[in-house]
Amino acid sequence: MVGTLTRVFALCFSLSVAIWVFLSEASPYAKLRENRGPYESSFTGTIVGADEFSWAKIVPTEELIWTECYSNNQCARLKVPLDYLHPEDASAAIAMVRVHSRVPHDSPNYRGPILINPGGPGGSGVDTVLDRGELLSTIVGPEFDVIGFDPRGIARSVPRVSSFESRAERELWSGGRDVTSLSMNASADALARAWARAIVGGQLAGERDDGSLRFINTDHTARDMLRIVQAHSMEKIHYWGFSYGSVLGATFASMFPENVGRLVIDGVVDSENYFATEWSNNLLDADKAWMSFVHGCVAAGPEKCAFFSPTAAEILEKVDKIYASLRARPIPVRTNGSYGLVDYSLLRRKIFKSLYSPYAQFPTLAQAFADLEAGNGTTLFKMSEAPPFQCACDPSEHEFDSVEEAEHAVLCNDGKRIPRDYEAVLAHYQNMSKTSQWADMAWPEFPKTNFQGPFVANTSHPILLVGNTADPVTPLSAAKKMSQGFAGSVVLTQDSVGHCSISGPSICTQKYIRQYFINGTLPKPDTVCPVISTPFPASHDVDSASEAQAVLSLSAEDRTLLEAVRELAMTFDTRFPAGV
Ligand SMILES: *[C@@H]1O[C@H](CO)[C@@H](O)[C@H](O)[C@H]1NC(C)=O
Ligand SMILES: *[C@@H]1O[C@H](CO)[C@@H](O)[C@H](O)[C@H]1NC(C)=O
Ligand SMILES: *[C@@H]1O[C@H](CO)[C@@H](O)[C@H](O)[C@H]1NC(C)=O
Ligand SMILES: *[C@@H]1O[C@H](CO)[C@@H](O)[C@H](O)[C@H]1NC(C)=O
Ligand SMILES: *[C@@H]1O[C@H](CO)[C@@H](O)[C@H](O)[C@H]1NC(C)=O
Ligand SMILES: *[C@@H]1O[C@H](CO)[C@@H](O)[C@H](O)[C@H]1NC(C)=O
Repeated sequence: MVGTLTRVFALCFSLSVAIWVFLSEASPYAKLRENRGPYESSFTGTIVGADEFSWAKIVPTEELIWTECYSNNQCARLKVPLDYLHPEDASAAIAMVRVHSRVPHDSPNYRGPILINPGGPGGSGVDTVLDRGELLSTIVGPEFDVIGFDPRGIARSVPRVSSFESRAERELWSGGRDVTSLSMNASADALARAWARAIVGGQLAGERDDGSLRFINTDHTARDMLRIVQAHSMEKIHYWGFSYGSVLGATFASMFPENVGRLVIDGVVDSENYFATEWSNNLLDADKAWMSFVHGCVAAGPEKCAFFSPTAAEILEKVDKIYASLRARPIPVRTNGSYGLVDYSLLRRKIFKSLYSPYAQFPTLAQAFADLEAGNGTTLFKMSEAPPFQCACDPSEHEFDSVEEAEHAVLCNDGKRIPRDYEAVLAHYQNMSKTSQWADMAWPEFPKTNFQGPFVANTSHPILLVGNTADPVTPLSAAKKMSQGFAGSVVLTQDSVGHCSISGPSICTQKYIRQYFINGTLPKPDTVCPVISTPFPASHDVDSASEAQAVLSLSAEDRTLLEAVRELAMTFDTRFPAGV
């Protein structure tokens, strides 16, 4: 099973494929944000919907000018150099949105802005703060502004990476998820096809580059963050970065150690491995995460886990049968709003994505397995249902979509060069399939002057790293490794399955994070925080009763915090392209 699961991620043997595989679901969902209920669990990657606010009306400026936007936010566009080596040349505009502190800015209690990065790369911080900023604000406290920004190249920031003339062209090339999300184990030529597609993708990116592509990287985004801090008339950053946001945070701390006020990196990537474009150690805990589904289902019992069997071995056997069955006979599905096939690749992808957000997904995944056993693919299909693509849609609805090429651009510009030929990729794939995969495509060759490490610094305030015990894409070992480079830093461990701390409800973790932001106090080394419940709801009345009792004993403040962390666990989306 170990080998089997890691192959899911090996489908992203190539960086570009990584993007297409994991974002291919995102583009058909462009409208989702409008439709999504506030706490509905749809963790489909970063999705930008039609914007009710006209960003073009904000003129980018070097000083920060906030404009009222959306329902209760302020927006701004900060003018920064496109190329920090030649700051007098062209400029870029970073889109930002703010949830205002609940104390006035002239109050002595006001503590300034906290910048948020949701991961990706390619994730939109504006979307995250629009959707979840209030919840994050509840956790960090009323003393802070919570600020989401779209990193350069992405969504509402300018320049915006795009290798396609239109959304229709992108959709036709990506062929919906049937083409782009093949498991590398789905057919004999899946790897070779993915490689060939990657070459085309790289060529398009090069041909359609207006000259700005080379400046879309983590180094420059870290410099943009410093500009954002300075535009607030502050010297030191307050930052909370998830997943890829940990690469960005570690880069900032290494480049600007004197400008660290509070810096939390959560779901920590091994930045050295990332910048070396190895991507070889992300998945070390992925099998543990998968097995926590299996064991969790056994423990939950038949009432709480629809796919229950008395032993883990029996569940795994049923899963293998479903794989074999789907390989032989994909299931046609027609739902109210869409249609498509449930096949081996779709199932593999859904399992994998569920490991990111187990509290939101495990019960549904169990139901989907049970239905698949009975030959019904509807539940699985609905886990990522999207309306069919329509060419006739209003293009303005999609002008801020977070597109796959943007993620691609950051990854490829950040990392070291990678082998160009298929044989090398194949050799590496075969070699690395034990743990995971990586690789490359024909990305335009830019001179690499960007920061790629080392990740060592005596920061002006020690940083806080957070890791889960069973995170499918950012293993705890990476947090421990990264911590060694940063003097005085501490790793806080959360004992849970899922990606980043907010994928699991822990009052303990979030109180430590709040305490760190408020007064800079770090948890003691080796602190382990429990979560309050399991992904499968408590199966025995006794358990639920004792849980209810525990909640009753909380202070009013903690109960508010508990509500926020529960909601986040059910809705937050962070991702790190899982290849990964
Ligand atoms: C690939 O598929 C075959 C046939 O279903 C299966 O036996 C094998 O375990 C799979 N390998 C991986 C790594 O998923
Ligand atoms: C099916 O679609 C129709 C029309 O879009 C809608 O009114 C109805 O509520 C949908 N039914 C379900 C069960 O979603
Ligand atoms: C499959 O399951 C769904 C939801 O559980 C149900 O609505 C549908 O009728 C089932 N389809 C078939 C063909 O049994
Ligand atoms: C295969 O793995 C070994 C051990 O990790 C490494 O030394 C070797 O360079 C790898 N070969 C390829 C082609 O990646
Ligand atoms: C951090 O400070 C220590 C002690 O002053 C010094 O030995 C070390 O070289 C410094 N590290 C960095 C990365 O500056
Ligand atoms: C730090 O802040 C937290 C608020 O989260 C508070 O509970 C704690 O007592 C503070 N510690 C100190 C030393 O001020």
